[in-house]
Amino acid sequence: MKTPAFARGTIDTVGLTPLVELTRLEESSSFRVFAKLEGHNPGGSIKDRSALAMVRHGIDTGRIVPGRSVVVESSSGNLGIGLAQVCAYYGVRFVCVADPRTNAQNIAIMRALGAEVEIVTRTDPATGAYLPVRVARVRELAATLPGGYCPDQYSNPFNPRAHHATMREIVEALQGPPDVLLCATGSCGTLRGCAEYIREHDLDVRVVAVDAVGSAIFGTPTRPRLVPGHGAAVRPALYRDGLADEVVHVDDAECVVGCRRLVGLEAILAGGSSGAVVSALERIRERIAPGSTCVLIFPDRGERYLDTIFDDDWVAERFGDISHLWKQKAVEVSTC
Ligand SMILES: Cc1ncc(COP(=O)(O)O)c(C=O)c1O
Repeated sequence: MKTPAFARGTIDTVGLTPLVELTRLEESSSFRVFAKLEGHNPGGSIKDRSALAMVRHGIDTGRIVPGRSVVVESSSGNLGIGLAQVCAYYGVRFVCVADPRTNAQNIAIMRALGAEVEIVTRTDPATGAYLPVRVARVRELAATLPGGYCPDQYSNPFNPRAHHATMREIVEALQGPPDVLLCATGSCGTLRGCAEYIREHDLDVRVVAVDAVGSAIFGTPTRPRLVPGHGAAVRPALYRDGLADEVVHVDDAECVVGCRRLVGLEAILAGGSSGAVVSALERIRERIAPGSTCVLIFPDRGERYLDTIFDDDWVAERFGDISHLWKQKAVEVSTC
């Protein structure tokens, strides 16, 4: 019998995102660049994959019981939206602990999907970050709410496990492994899942982790960051040495420049960590061998960054006039 050409429920559309060749970003280079557009997931980001895998495992093992359990998680937005959607689908109550950096639209989306959102307002005195306070509040809620359960994206093996499929889809679409993979890191779910798949299948792929300047993941000093999504104030439990062959740290201004270049050159409106990945590619491009195939994972779309990265006043107030850093390249393309 033929496989049906329709999805069975919206969560059946998680994954199988498009892989698109970017023909203008590195126009005169000797290598090819492809982007995995994770913003095409139903909840709008790569975190739909992790949310679905963690909740499904919770239900399969009886740890989450629809109608009785309460899922509690800390999220700056995307995982929260993914969990809100999956929990709504399965009829599970969901409480998301967020912080003031969380985009107001993300909070509205979670609430529209039936989630309860609690915003912590204090930062951790030691690091100045919200994350440790958010994590402590999640633990408290999971322990005190009847039926409380925290999937804990920072330590749950089903977070990286979900990304075996991400890497498999890339390899299948290219009909072979790419030479270079660039992926943003936060919980380390994407990085670890892709790296595990590469190792398990003995593939020859150079994995480049893209982290934020000021993130603790790879042991560099922490400092406040403006762009949410990638980076972490505390090294996640999922982290392992040797997952990446190389790490590139990208600052907030470079995220903006990467996002704006993507719009100008490829007409792709993508989120801050996608901009980080684009800027990281620019940083390593001289070291990419001619004839190579590079894959960039773009974790989400740009709509959630309209009042920051894509707002000219917001950018100018924080970084000065840096528009020449993306405008020059865009003009080159439009005149050819
Ligand atoms: C926009 C965005 N980029 C990158 C990441 C990092 O992905 P991971 O948690 O798999 O390391 C996240 C995680 O939430 C994200 O939301």
